[in-house]
Amino acid sequence: MAEGFAGLSVLLTGAASGLGAAAARAFAGQGARLTLVDLDPGVESVAAPLGARAVVADVSDEAAARDMVAAVLDAHGRIDVAVNNAGIGGAMAPLTAIPVEEFDRIMAVNARGVFLGMKHQLPPMIAAGKGAILNVASAAGLVGAGRLAAYAASKHAVVGLTRSAADEVARHGIRVNALCPSFTATPLFEAMADGIAERHGVSRGDATARTLSRVPMGRIAAPGEIVQAMLWACAPDNTFFTGQALALDGGLTAV
Ligand SMILES: NC(=O)c1ccc[n+]([C@@H]2O[C@H](COP(=O)([O-])OP(=O)(O)OC[C@H]3O[C@@H](n4cnc5c(N)ncnc54)[C@H](O)[C@@H]3O)[C@@H](O)[C@H]2O)c1
Repeated sequence: MAEGFAGLSVLLTGAASGLGAAAARAFAGQGARLTLVDLDPGVESVAAPLGARAVVADVSDEAAARDMVAAVLDAHGRIDVAVNNAGIGGAMAPLTAIPVEEFDRIMAVNARGVFLGMKHQLPPMIAAGKGAILNVASAAGLVGAGRLAAYAASKHAVVGLTRSAADEVARHGIRVNALCPSFTATPLFEAMADGIAERHGVSRGDATARTLSRVPMGRIAAPGEIVQAMLWACAPDNTFFTGQALALDGGLTAV
């Protein structure tokens, strides 16, 4: 395999599960020196076989966001790439039934977590005059999502943070982009499908089919289909791509 990230220091959050764990293996396969962050201590078992450093931390906590960057600099002396992937879905419910505590919880992880991540990742990148940040948003960061209003709001915030940061740091040689996947086969999607199934008294398979009726390709994504775009977005030779919210959604937001 090509060693596109050979020797580069990559910070990746939400690495214990789903897209983050798949991305960790893909970056490691291309030679990256990884620091993997997650609230779930299971991140240690993802990191160990990859020779990566694991940090158990909450991305919504500013001290933790500062410390995770310090851990990267301590281990590798530099931070070339940051992927702010950690996120939560939350229960599906109409906006009028979302408790304010649930709204705040989703915004804290998905929106504040990305804000805090970039706040502390950017200074060493600015000092180095180079770097790439990828924030994992969602197709629900580009269009509305009924019964997922807080999630969609948080992901629209990620897109706004991404475009604004890209404008601020482009002249420092730093690229900032967002990735907007639609439904992808991870535990987060399975929890969502279970919620729909319970509400409608149908199987998870039927709930998934109901969810996918709006997707032109009529299927969910495999994690690998999203991960290859993560690598492309962050690749050191991808030098003119910044400020974008890139949809990988089987056509969902095209129609
Ligand atoms: N799976 C999908 O259908 C889908 C679609 C669009 C966008 N996304 C986004 O992709 C990203 C990855 O999701 P996934 O599908 O792999 O879900 P996942 O639940 O499998 O993984 C998310 C990871 O984030 C971690 N995490 C949650 N809160 C955290 C916190 N406060 N601090 C640190 N880590 C925390 C979890 O422990 C978990 O390991 C998320 O931002 C999600 O919103 C997923």
